[in-house]
Amino acid sequence: MILKRVRDCHNTQDFRALAKSRLPGPIFHYIDGGADDEITKKRNTEAYENCDLVPNVLAGVKDIDMSVTVMGKKLDMPLFCSPTALQRLFHHDGELAVARAAEKFGTMSGLSSLGTVDIHKMSKEISSPKLFQLYYHKDKGLNDHMIELCKEANYDAIVLTVDTITGGNRERDLRTGFTSPPKLTLSSIISFMAHPMWAINHFTHAKFDLPQLKEFVKEGTNVSISVGDYFTHMLDQTMNWKDAENINKQWGKHFCLKGIMSIEDAKRAVDIGATAIMVSNHGGRQLDGSRAPFDQLPEIVDAVGDQIDVICDGGITRGTHVLKALSVGAKCCSGGKYYLYALAAGGQPAVEKALKNFRDEIERDMKLMGCSKISELNRNNLRYR
Ligand code: LAC
Repeated sequence: MILKRVRDCHNTQDFRALAKSRLPGPIFHYIDGGADDEITKKRNTEAYENCDLVPNVLAGVKDIDMSVTVMGKKLDMPLFCSPTALQRLFHHDGELAVARAAEKFGTMSGLSSLGTVDIHKMSKEISSPKLFQLYYHKDKGLNDHMIELCKEANYDAIVLTVDTITGGNRERDLRTGFTSPPKLTLSSIISFMAHPMWAINHFTHAKFDLPQLKEFVKEGTNVSISVGDYFTHMLDQTMNWKDAENINKQWGKHFCLKGIMSIEDAKRAVDIGATAIMVSNHGGRQLDGSRAPFDQLPEIVDAVGDQIDVICDGGITRGTHVLKALSVGAKCCSGGKYYLYALAAGGQPAVEKALKNFRDEIERDMKLMGCSKISELNRNNLRYR
């Protein structure tokens, strides 16, 4: 079946199919791909399938409250939009479309250091909770500049990405030649011509750039580079716990580490005063063969769940995945691909539809689980196979 309309997208796979039909191949594969053999990317979703829900019935669950509080912010639903890069490549409204949709659903969204909308524009338009995803660059002036921007724009939290000090081996990008900005080569021009609506929108809207970076680096805005090479050449591989602690002190508001997987690191995040961690392997785009966030969640929650907000990030394609992670003890869930497919499929209305699908699923699934609020979910209602 060929999907043509956003309203026909009932789940993440439907949005993925529509995104695939709308985007030039290199851009679709950049969103969709993982590192090496993509085993971790696949496992991130499969992990949820190795665990079953055990419902209770006759529980009187007409009214559902699915709100959660994370980093001091109340969210109306327990799933938010993880910060991701380069969004105006996927749809000309980019990060603004996602943030407007997230705001309508009372949830949080993010802006990456490699984001494509100006942080002040975001903060003027969006009043729901906002994260800034900090990539720690070799250029310390740039790091200070981004932290200052977050203060000026009154962002709610900085999320320091800790799993990208070198680029993951994304072989799809190597094969397609994906770069930011896209290089005009014979094959990229052919793929733009095969997707004329994308090309018209991309080339007739505001010129693509990375506003938070462009005064400091040309790469990504004026000079085409792959994301893998950007990480490897521009980010600081000496980044350590002291640096993370210093960023936290310099910032002084909610601080989250994205990409924590081990108990040791989770405890150190508590020690440096972080308020949250995202248990994440960067959507399987960095270290292939690393464990899935949902598999790793119980030991992290047991170690630090009473001291820090634990967020389960990645692989989520269904409301039941969210309920499983919350049952283990995550405060909230997040993901990138689920809303990026929607963004590419149809901009803000499509991201709204994706969030609505999740909200409807979570509400229905909570009723079927016999729970009227998130705090009623716990490990008694899970069985591992
Ligand atoms: C990626 C970065 C930019 O995974 O988050 O491509």
